[in-house]
Amino acid sequence: MKYPKEYIDEIKNRLKVSTVVSKNINLKKRGKEFVGLSPFKTEKTPSFTVNDEKGFFHCFSSGEHGNIFDFLMKTQNLKFGETVKILASMAGMQPYTFSKSDEIREKKFQIYIEIYLKYIDYYHRQLLENDSNKNIREYIKKRNLTINEIKKFKIGYVEKNPSFYEKLKKNYNDLDIKESGLFYFDEKKEKNIERFKDRIIFPINNISGKHIAIGGRTLNQTSYIAKYINSPETIFYKKGSNLYNLDLARKFSNSSENIYVVEGYMDAIALNKHNIENVVANLGTALTNKQIQTLCQFFNHIIICFDGDKSGYSAALRAAENLIQELKPDKNISFLFLPEKEDPDTFVNKNGKDKFIKFTEDNLNSIYTFLFQHYKGETDGTPSSYAKFEKKLRYIASSIKDEFIKKYTLEFFLEKINELTPNLRNFSKNKFQKINKTLTSTKKHFDETKSLTQVELKEFSFIYLLLNNIELTKINIEIINKVKLFTKENKMVFDQILKDLNSQQGINDLSLNIDQELINRINKFASIKYILKGLKNDQNKIMDLLIEIIKDLKNYELERRIEELESKFSKDLSESTFNEIKELKKLQKVN
Ligand code: UTP
Ligand code: MN
Repeated sequence: MKYPKEYIDEIKNRLKVSTVVSKNINLKKRGKEFVGLSPFKTEKTPSFTVNDEKGFFHCFSSGEHGNIFDFLMKTQNLKFGETVKILASMAGMQPYTFSKSDEIREKKFQIYIEIYLKYIDYYHRQLLENDSNKNIREYIKKRNLTINEIKKFKIGYVEKNPSFYEKLKKNYNDLDIKESGLFYFDEKKEKNIERFKDRIIFPINNISGKHIAIGGRTLNQTSYIAKYINSPETIFYKKGSNLYNLDLARKFSNSSENIYVVEGYMDAIALNKHNIENVVANLGTALTNKQIQTLCQFFNHIIICFDGDKSGYSAALRAAENLIQELKPDKNISFLFLPEKEDPDTFVNKNGKDKFIKFTEDNLNSIYTFLFQHYKGETDGTPSSYAKFEKKLRYIASSIKDEFIKKYTLEFFLEKINELTPNLRNFSKNKFQKINKTLTSTKKHFDETKSLTQVELKEFSFIYLLLNNIELTKINIEIINKVKLFTKENKMVFDQILKDLNSQQGINDLSLNIDQELINRINKFASIKYILKGLKNDQNKIMDLLIEIIKDLKNYELERRIEELESKFSKDLSESTFNEIKELKKLQKVN
């Protein structure tokens, strides 16, 4: 059975080509594209390019070309089905299981989006063309929107006495129409009523740009009618999973690190009108982790910009406490509070794009500072309120899942708390000495790590393990002797260790003979230290770890050798070279 196009598109939309490719190849940004060394040819100058906007890679030296699926199939010799499974999981999606019910669901989905498309197209045209909708067009104009926004966001207006049900009836059965959520059944009148009648409607799209729900604004100012209503949850529309305008905003992930999250449809549209297009709206519900995770696949910095009122503030606080738990090292979340009584729509219309951007830059609150400031604001100078405050912050830090972020957030909070207790300063100084710049230093750590090669990092871990487990190293000196390292400095350190271990004095002088600079570097970057800490000196587990690293290094050696031979083969085309490559590849599999 074929995978539904919808599922495949969803994978493509969630994963940038560069994300997939960079798992195997080091990419460097060059203008709008990325370049790297070709995985298809051995080469010294990069001729392999990736274009996220267009969704493909192109290799100038081999002529290979394609999307993320082609990339995996070609570089890893996978079948399409296997590729779909791998990429779906990388995209955080459930594996696709084919069954009768899936097939039915897929057909249903096609009908569902057809109904939405017909409905939205029809009322969009009505808004643009129908003479009796002049007053609605006037209202929209008063809200500072032009024909461009109406068209770009396919805004529509549903008349007061609509009869779209009858129209749909000709082509679709009652159940399918009912399941769209566009109508509800009025028991008294025994009639299907249009949920969005007499409302301006905003299509809500899935990540691929298909209409799957609607938000509707009334023009009546009466308090007993909800200002906005949304489609109810349907089989294909789940509230916490979607974001308004994500289908368009994600296209800006190459030109911007930032994504604005605003509360309302009109906010997202108004920012768009002012050429701020990297914006999504979460539509009046609490921001979920799922939504943030989706955004993180495209953007590194999420700027939550809620209205400058009480409910906006408490929504932001709820979001901060919830979202900090899932925060990842290379992602940032900040909060932006607009002046009172403003929302992004009114602010940008009053002040324009440049002032909005300037306001953003001047008033951004990192998630850490925001939480700290908020809870500090709740203290009243009494010891017990401070105690409660510290406890709360410790609790928030401990709820963070990522070990690095957890550690540095706690340090950040405690350092700031220390500032509040100057008399305890000297006492606590030693404990939290280096805290001031921890957040930038975490970032720096990751940036620096990025510039090191995989094998270099592996080697750091290898040496770190040896130096910190001398007894184990001595016992296993036979295996360790055979390990080959690749980077010059690491090789030097490793040779020195072997020399010391094999000499008479043995371990005692070990650290003395090695350049401290090099050792510092190893200590800094050996990510294994965090794992080792968790193993609590369990010799068996450390041994397993050692074997694993040796295996990885061995594989790297093989890879290098294969690359060399392949390059040789491409020139001499000799059978012996070919056979040697084959043998090595077999070995690689065994490892
Ligand atoms: P707001 O009340 O802030 O409205 O709700 P707004 O976006 O500023 O709208 P305008 O400018 O008055 O037209 C923010 C968002 O909360 C949801 C909607 O998604 C809205 O865009 N909401 C609001 C509802 O779902 N129901 C409501 O009754 C009100
Ligand atoms: Mn508004």
